[in-house]
Order: sequence, then structure tokens, then C-alpha cells
Amino acid sequence: MYNIGIIGYGGFGKFLHNAWNQLGEVRVVAVAEKDAAKMQGLDGVKTYTNWHDMLHDPEVDVVAIVTEPSTHETIATACLEVGKHILIEKPLAVNMADAQKILEIRDQTGMVAGIDFIMRFNPLLEAIRDLTQKGVFGKLRRVDVENYAQDEALLPSHWFWDIGRSGGILVEHAVHFIDLVHFISSAKVLAVNGLKHNRNPGQEDQIMANVLYDDGLIATHYHAFTRPGFFEVTKIKLAYDLADVELHGWIPLSAEVKALVGPATRTSLFEHPLFKMNTLTPIEKASDESRPAGWGPLDSSKDETRKTVRSGGIAYEANEIVQGILSLGKTKQEVYIDCVQASLLDVLAKISDPNHNLTAPLEAGLVSLGIAVTASDSARSYV
Ligand SMILES: NC(=O)c1ccc[n+]([C@@H]2O[C@H](COP(=O)([O-])OP(=O)(O)OC[C@H]3O[C@@H](n4cnc5c(N)ncnc54)[C@H](O)[C@@H]3O)[C@@H](O)[C@H]2O)c1
Repeated sequence: MYNIGIIGYGGFGKFLHNAWNQLGEVRVVAVAEKDAAKMQGLDGVKTYTNWHDMLHDPEVDVVAIVTEPSTHETIATACLEVGKHILIEKPLAVNMADAQKILEIRDQTGMVAGIDFIMRFNPLLEAIRDLTQKGVFGKLRRVDVENYAQDEALLPSHWFWDIGRSGGILVEHAVHFIDLVHFISSAKVLAVNGLKHNRNPGQEDQIMANVLYDDGLIATHYHAFTRPGFFEVTKIKLAYDLADVELHGWIPLSAEVKALVGPATRTSLFEHPLFKMNTLTPIEKASDESRPAGWGPLDSSKDETRKTVRSGGIAYEANEIVQGILSLGKTKQEVYIDCVQASLLDVLAKISDPNHNLTAPLEAGLVSLGIAVTASDSARSYV
């Protein structure tokens, strides 16, 4: 049984409390929140309006830091220094110096620290990562994130719009998706730039990051906080040499898959517990719409003995096109709760067993923050 303290009891702090209350091996024993009204009605939990006071509570083993991003460094380093383990909300910090300081103090104190990159705990994204790393889809060439988020709950006075407090949209929000690329692929970053638009001087509401990786991978992350909630859209498209995978929603529940498979790869996909096949077509029966009627077929395209396709300049063994879906069969609420529970359990596993490798270590937070900061600086340098 581990005892948890939560610092920051706004929207997400409350969500975490509710999700963690459903875990047997965890008890939320304390909450610190500067706005006392937000803690009213909390039963069986110690409450503090000054988070420093929670740090002296011997009952608290792990502190979840769920305050606005600019406060993360001060709170995280103080927790580590008094001997508390931490689970820190994304982003790690709003600048690299603060983020590096947190890693430095973690290393000096030897305490366990994880970052709440919940996507790393979504079984659908774990499946895509595993299929990618097994080479089932060929090389990953493109990640395209398009996110039209709601701003109805974000009044112009909200800390989210204050770049000093949130870091801006790429730092506060896009880090989840930037990290997802690193979770799926081990490609190395070569170059980063960005573009943005301000609705008014105080609201940078559209921004994008372009990231060039080695091995022919290019990622773009477009985020706009502009829409009503009911019209919110998030699409994540992954283009591989042998597959197009499209995910919907920022907590994706399913992915549409169109893939070229061969004898060496078909089993990994077809037997994956999340996969349901819709169609399977031998490639010699597939129509080639890149060459409309009148161009004549490619010499090789109707060759019934054809066993390889060239994609990205590589000859892959593939003889069938499959269309299907990877699906969790759960609601967004259920998956979100599963993810935040798994994220905490990952930190607890590391506390119990120092040899446990964290799924979401602070290093992941540092890498995605570095990209978000560089792209934001680049975007802001144009205007
Ligand atoms: N991992 C995820 O899926 C996810 C989802 C939502 C939010 N978040 C992150 O969680 C953090 C909080 O976001 P939120 O949406 O809950 O914001 P919020 O504004 O609703 O809540 C933050 C709370 O922290 C309190 N607070 C701020 N400074 C404090 C201090 N010094 N001492 C005590 N309390 C303090 C505020 O009063 C507020 O109640 C952010 O870093 C955000 O990026 C993560």
C-alpha cells in the first residue's frame, strides 16, 4: 500500500484522485491546493493550502504534481529534496533549464520520478509501437498530428494562454504527441522548426512544429485551441512504407489500418488480440489507381508470382493488402482511467524494484520539451 499526496486540485487533480481511488494498492491521503474552496467536501483526506506543509507529512510516500507547468520545477525539486517520490504532470517544466534541474535533483537524491505521459500506457499505442518495432509496417516515414481543440473552457485570463505560465500550446499540450513519436520510434532528431498564429497579442492559438528525424521520418504537429468542445477533432496519421494507420481522438480508442503484408509479417498483425480484419486482397488483384486507364499496367504489377513490393526504395516481401482495425473496445473514460492508473503503478513498481525500467521516465519529458521549446522559439522568431 502506497500513500499518495496530490498537489494541485483543479480539473486534472480531481480526475486523478477519482481514478486512483479505484486502485487497491494506493490511498490518496493528502491534497494541497492554494484555493481552499476546491478542497471543500473532501472526506478522509488531509488538506493543505500551502503545499510545503504536505512535504513534512510523513504519511505521504509519493507526490503527484498537478499544478500549472511553471510551478513544476520548484515543487518537484522540493519534493525530491525532502525524500518524496514524484509523478509529475506534463510538461516537465516550461524551459529546459528548469527541466534539467529536476533531473539533476532526482539523480542527487536517488528518489523515483516519473512523468505522466499517459499515451505510453494506452494499449492501442503499445500495440502500434510493438508492430512498428517488429517491422510489420516497414519504415515509419511520417507522423502527422492535427488537433483542433476546444477553447470554450479556456477564458482569455486562463493560465493556459500565458506563455510564462504554460510555455504555450506546444509545451503545455503537444508534448504528449511529440513524445508519442519517440515512444513508437527510436529515430534521432535532426532539425526542428515551427509556425504560429496569434488571435490577439495575448492568445497564441494556432501553432505547429515540424520535426525532421534520421531515417526519413518527418513529423508535424499542428494544434489549434479554437473550437467548441463538441467540434473538437484530433487525428494522428502514421505513414509507413507498408502501412497507413490513422487514429482518432486524443485518447485514441481505435486505429484504421491499411497494410501490405507478407508471409513474415501477416501473423504478427492478424493474430494481434486488438486486430480485426475487414478485407484481404492479393496484390495482383488490387487496382493501381496511381495509373488511370490508358497508361497500361506496370510490367510487374500483374505478375502472379510477384512476392516483393518496392516502397521507400526498399524491396519488401509482401503479397497481400489487408484493411482492418485495431480496437480497444472500451470507452474514452475507461481508457483514460486505465492510463492514469498504469502511469502511477509504473512509478510504484520502480519504488518497489529499483531494476524496473520506467515506461515514462523524466528523460522522455526532457526530449519532448526540448522539441516543443525549439519549435515555439522558431515560430515566434517569424513575427
Ligand atoms: N496527463 C494528462 O493527460 C493531463 C491532462 C490535463 C492536465 N494535465 C496537466 O496537469 C496540470 C494541471 O492542469 P489542470 O488542467 O488540472 O489545471 P487547473 O488550473 O485546473 O488546476 C491546477 C490547480 O493547481 C492549483 N495550484 C496552482 N499553483 C499552486 C500552488 N503553488 N500550490 C497549490 N495549488 C496550486 C490551482 O489553484 C489549480 O486548482 C498541468 O500541468 C496540465 O498540463 C495533464
